[in-house]
Amino acid sequence: MTQRSDNQLRAQMSLYYDFLKTVADQGDQYAKLLQGIEDPYPAYERIRAGGPLVRSALGVWVTGDHGVANKVLRDRRFGVRKVDGSKMPDFVSFDNSMLGLDPPDHTRLRRLTIPALNPRMADRWRPRATEICDRLIDDILAEGDRFDLMPQFAQRLPNTVIADLVGIPDEHRPRFARLSRRIAPLLDGVVSFHKVRGVNLAIDELTEMFVEIIALRKAEPADDLISQMLPAVDDGRLGMHELLPLCMFLPLAGTETTVNLIGNGVRALLQHPEQWALLREEPDHAAGAVEETLRFDPPVQQYRRVAHEEIELEGELLPVDGELAILAAAANRDPAVFPDPGRFDITRRSKSDTLSFSSGIHYCLGAALARVEAEAALRAIATRLPGLRQDGPARRRDSFIIRGLLQFPLAVQ
Ligand code: HEM
Repeated sequence: MTQRSDNQLRAQMSLYYDFLKTVADQGDQYAKLLQGIEDPYPAYERIRAGGPLVRSALGVWVTGDHGVANKVLRDRRFGVRKVDGSKMPDFVSFDNSMLGLDPPDHTRLRRLTIPALNPRMADRWRPRATEICDRLIDDILAEGDRFDLMPQFAQRLPNTVIADLVGIPDEHRPRFARLSRRIAPLLDGVVSFHKVRGVNLAIDELTEMFVEIIALRKAEPADDLISQMLPAVDDGRLGMHELLPLCMFLPLAGTETTVNLIGNGVRALLQHPEQWALLREEPDHAAGAVEETLRFDPPVQQYRRVAHEEIELEGELLPVDGELAILAAAANRDPAVFPDPGRFDITRRSKSDTLSFSSGIHYCLGAALARVEAEAALRAIATRLPGLRQDGPARRRDSFIIRGLLQFPLAVQ
């Protein structure tokens, strides 16, 4: 990036932040959220109290109403690209693969990826996820009785699983883990100039790495996603210009999200000792604990849609290209769907109702795999570290899209 464009980006971001702060100071709850506040849940409540669909002074419509969110996600008049095909504006240029596409390209790319990620395939990862969790806990116990859950456990499991799944050779893994952390702020929404610059550099390095890996897999196919996708490139169903973004997007979509599902789950359990006791006594509640974490404190808090035509919704008229923010974390606490929504209860049955993995055509392709990993993680932690307690202040990510922890110091007894 040139000095000149660096300066332009810095100036644009600074203008945006000033505007955001002014609007937030005037009481706009959505602008407050975009500042990446520590506890967004009171703002979600205020937004829902304002009605099923509210207009932010930032020019975006916002919903935290479960019914409206679900309806929009399943309505084909909404999509993820503007009508001229352009993306919604962003400070970082990253190709979100199928998540950034509308049909028919979205449908084609998604269909090609389903075989590697369907629930049956995800179930095949269960023994591997359990083995990784056990090994990580062995390492933690060998080191002493204090550890940081995020770098020593939560980040390592999804990183290893995704590296196996996509087909990252062993020699590239340390670099892959380092770059995955460096591009993670991409999911944080608007971040500082410094982070945007770091993300752009990491994207370049990751692109180089995947070009090498794809060439390697072409020469020596293996049992992984890249090798499975290459025949589709050969017969023209998938462009090489689409395979590279897919390889780059999956690690992003599949690591940082799952990392924070594990972190948020352990945190919620330790903050609710009776639920933690229940899981320790009956580790089969691990799947329920994962579902309840997804509802109560989801790793992906919000996403956006854009109107492809003029649409009347809840008494508001959205123009063509009007943007709508779906506050999944708020919808997950909509009392019309979830009784006593502020209560964390691992025996609650809400699996299909939460919007944590979205809904409609962009429903998360990795949902089954994420559930397998997080369930293995919570089960292993409850079984092998029953005396777990917090051992110092947790540090949260500075983000409004992804909610999770950077540091979570724990002691094993
Ligand atoms: C707890 C973990 C995860 C959460 C909370 C999560 C959440 C989401 C959400 C909310 C979306 C849709 C966003 C939207 O509608 O705009 C999505 C899409 C997607 N996710 Fe996940 N995800 C997780 C794990 C994974 C994993 C492990 C993978 C892959 C290995 C993955 C792959 C994808 C893909 C490919 C899409 C795009 C689907 C499409 O556009 O059709 N995700 N995810």
